[in-house]
Amino acid sequence: MPIMKWMDEYSVQVAELDQQHQKLIELINLLHDEMRQGKGRESLGRILDQLIEYTRVHFTTEEDWMARAGYAGLAAHREEHRALTRQVEELQDQHRAGSRTLSLEVMVFLKDWLVNHIQKTDQKYSDVLKEYQRR
Ligand SMILES: [Fe+2]
Repeated sequence: MPIMKWMDEYSVQVAELDQQHQKLIELINLLHDEMRQGKGRESLGRILDQLIEYTRVHFTTEEDWMARAGYAGLAAHREEHRALTRQVEELQDQHRAGSRTLSLEVMVFLKDWLVNHIQKTDQKYSDVLKEYQRR
């Protein structure tokens, strides 16, 4: 059972970024599924690595869009991306070291980590990027 579901209200009105957000949701759901199936640390670690790798790709794509559109909130947004990246890297380190096992609590953290960012911070650039696409 998926822990997250894409909702139309998550849309930032940029197809490429919406697709990437959907892919992040898929990876979190995959991690959740494998966790529930009781998959081992190595197997879960590989999905966690994929999630982090894709997060980096996505944040870079988003920052490029904001830069091209001349979005005034870019610096603050980039800082938030850095903080979010540090949070998941910390999780990755703890998971690798065996000091943290993936639990429902961790999954809820990841879900909130993504949803809060998409719904609050990403929504702020939506109008500017939408307008930029029309130019
Ligand atoms: Fe973002």
